Amino acid sequence: MTNHPALRRTRSAGDIGRDIDKDHIMRIIQISDTHISQLGGTTNENAEKAIELVSELEPDLVVHTGDVTILDPDEDDDRVAAKAILSRIEAPLRVLPGNHDIGEPGADPFGGKSVTSERVAAFRAHFGEDRFVDEVGEWTVVGFNSELFGSGLPEEEDQWAWLESLPERLGGRPTLIFSHKPVWAHAPEYQTPKVSLDAAVLPRLEAILSRIDARGFGSGHLHHYALTAAPSRPSAVAVSAPPTAFVHRSAEMARVTGPGMNQLGVVSYEIEGDRVLPFFRSRIDFEEKEFGEVDSAMRALGAMGIELPAG
Ligand SMILES: [Fe+2]
Ligand SMILES: [Fe+2]
Repeated sequence: MTNHPALRRTRSAGDIGRDIDKDHIMRIIQISDTHISQLGGTTNENAEKAIELVSELEPDLVVHTGDVTILDPDEDDDRVAAKAILSRIEAPLRVLPGNHDIGEPGADPFGGKSVTSERVAAFRAHFGEDRFVDEVGEWTVVGFNSELFGSGLPEEEDQWAWLESLPERLGGRPTLIFSHKPVWAHAPEYQTPKVSLDAAVLPRLEAILSRIDARGFGSGHLHHYALTAAPSRPSAVAVSAPPTAFVHRSAEMARVTGPGMNQLGVVSYEIEGDRVLPFFRSRIDFEEKEFGEVDSAMRALGAMGIELPAG
């Protein structure tokens, strides 16, 4: 606990916007890629440690940017295990879906699992809405479902209509924007639905973003931590959040993700006035395994009938 007057919290859970003292530093925590399994194991233990860390930071809002569950979007028992662990977060919590929670768009989805209306509905039943707008002090925090873009599902058109309404709704307030996959890949050849948003949807989304005072974009999915200037929005920071579950250290993954830190952790966005600064936070006692070393992940792969590619 801190005694610094600037860090005193006055808000109550569920009422994020109203009670925040105008002068204090607000803190929004992004947690991502927890990959929690019904089988327990490393990823669950790391998620529990991450939640202890989040509690110590006394956030005004926590945003989980997806891949809540281990691998298979059709395993309800993984969702139940994840919900039990995430329920220990005392601050207001928003959860966005990742490709391992609802499937993904594109011609070659992981495990052959495309995003479907049924999978989106199963996610919402456990974790709530897959998009949100929250007012936090003088700021707004927006989250959207990255896996719908290019899916052709009715939920995609619903989300577009909601996105189109945002500029007027936000009214010029400084805004942080969260999604599972990054809006922009680090290189044009990776601007595909497996890595980021599909290049085909960017012009429509960027036209909306150009009318929003976005100060930061937080995403997950890449399992590494990196800070860059947001392409086409150089005054905004793009944050690739670290996972809490496991890392990828191969040269091939580094080509896909671009430069970054392969470490487990969370991101704390500290906001004072109209300034935001993201900070990497971690714990020395995270068990930092590579994907292929995580027993629950290998068993989930096996159950999906997928062989781990060599290397
Ligand atoms: Fe992930
Ligand atoms: Fe992902």
